Amino acid sequence: MNQRSTLKVNSLGHLEIGGCDAVELAKQFGTPLYVFDEAYIRKMMNTYTKSLAENYDGKGIVLYASKAFSCKAIYKIAKSEGIGVDVVSGGELYTALSAGFPADKIYMHGNNKTPEELEYAVQSGVGTIVVDSYLEADRLEKICGEKGVKQSVLIRINPGVEAHTHAYVQTATPDSKFGFSIANGTAEDITKYVLSKENIALKGFHCHIGSQIFEKQSFVLAADKMMNFIAAIKNSTGFEAEVLNIGGGFGIYYTDEDPKLTSKDYSDYLKALCDEIKAKAGELGLSRPFIALEPGRSIVGEAGITLYTAGAIKEIPGIKTYLAVDGGMFDNPRYALYQSRYTVVAAGDMNAPCTQKVTIAGKCCESGDIIAVDVPMPDVKSGDIIAVLSTGAYNYSMASNYNRNFIPQAILVNDGKAETIIKKQTYEDIVRNDVIPERLK
Ligand code: LLP
Repeated sequence: MNQRSTLKVNSLGHLEIGGCDAVELAKQFGTPLYVFDEAYIRKMMNTYTKSLAENYDGKGIVLYASKAFSCKAIYKIAKSEGIGVDVVSGGELYTALSAGFPADKIYMHGNNKTPEELEYAVQSGVGTIVVDSYLEADRLEKICGEKGVKQSVLIRINPGVEAHTHAYVQTATPDSKFGFSIANGTAEDITKYVLSKENIALKGFHCHIGSQIFEKQSFVLAADKMMNFIAAIKNSTGFEAEVLNIGGGFGIYYTDEDPKLTSKDYSDYLKALCDEIKAKAGELGLSRPFIALEPGRSIVGEAGITLYTAGAIKEIPGIKTYLAVDGGMFDNPRYALYQSRYTVVAAGDMNAPCTQKVTIAGKCCESGDIIAVDVPMPDVKSGDIIAVLSTGAYNYSMASNYNRNFIPQAILVNDGKAETIIKKQTYEDIVRNDVIPERLK
């Protein structure tokens, strides 16, 4: 539990978040339940904005990468903190716009945006679209021509930095599906192609090296390579990028295997990046570009916890003990996908000593439906409230209705108040889009 978090143990020995007793929240709202700490989210947004102001004279923008957790309330919070957002689908764009988020502060990503998504983005006045294919450059040129719009774009570049993280969340390896490689010359080729277009205005470049990364050096190296690329493009074409978007990827604490970063540590990541960009601009005779950064996980990850009710407890003698909860891979597929690790606690008995190791299993009909393996726990009984920490990023946003389970409700807590931000699904929601063809009736 870090200095930003409002997580603590209250006088009853219960877990508390945002001034609310987690056991009471479970009673009031039911489980499974996603709980988000508003103060934490605002603090992180603010940490990045402040660091940009201090280290780069504010010549830049923080974009919350909303793929980490997208719902109307989060865009309202981002808007009130004065930051921008990145969206990656028509659905995220629609959610942001319907929450009244200003279109000009939206960056649109995606390695294969559909023609409909591109059209929707252009006609909504999305500030910047990040181009990731020739096909997309052609489609945008046509759509913008028809609408009489000149769309600002960046090109997604692969700087070739291998960051130490899970293979599935590395994005700048030579075989990545994202971006155009500097090393093999395709980045320069597409730049010339986009510059030849009439209706799209190239503003600069974007890169994102991966997610859950702790090494400052990886980010600095990416910035270094991007600045060299900007200089090379200026030499070969005369075009000097005004914008450099350096993506997201800062890591968070899940278990004791991860460092516990302070707000200053996050601010220092950004400072290292800014220092590198300033130094390179001087060295290469470039103007300092406007910087965009796109943190997702580090803004919402540690702000979220998931509450479950313990169900069946099954001991396989000499092998392991399963503690089954009323959720599973449908609300958190990250163990199934990445063998992710989590800290799990007994929310109603936080001071009890851990006496055993249990594997937290979900309720889906699938052996791989696990939330966490061999976690230390006190003696827990069926009916106890179990909390999984650091579930704010890529849990709700990757949830599904697998086995026709409900995607859980999400609440926002702050100063002892709890409010619903995503309603619980109902059986009616589950069948809402089902259609029985006439001949089967
Ligand atoms: N910008 C771009 C272009 C991205 O692709 C991503 C994440 C971000 C920013 C935000 O990165 P963050 O700060 O959250 O690390 N589902 C995986 C993570 C996938 C990340 C995808 N891109 C997981 O659960 O670990």
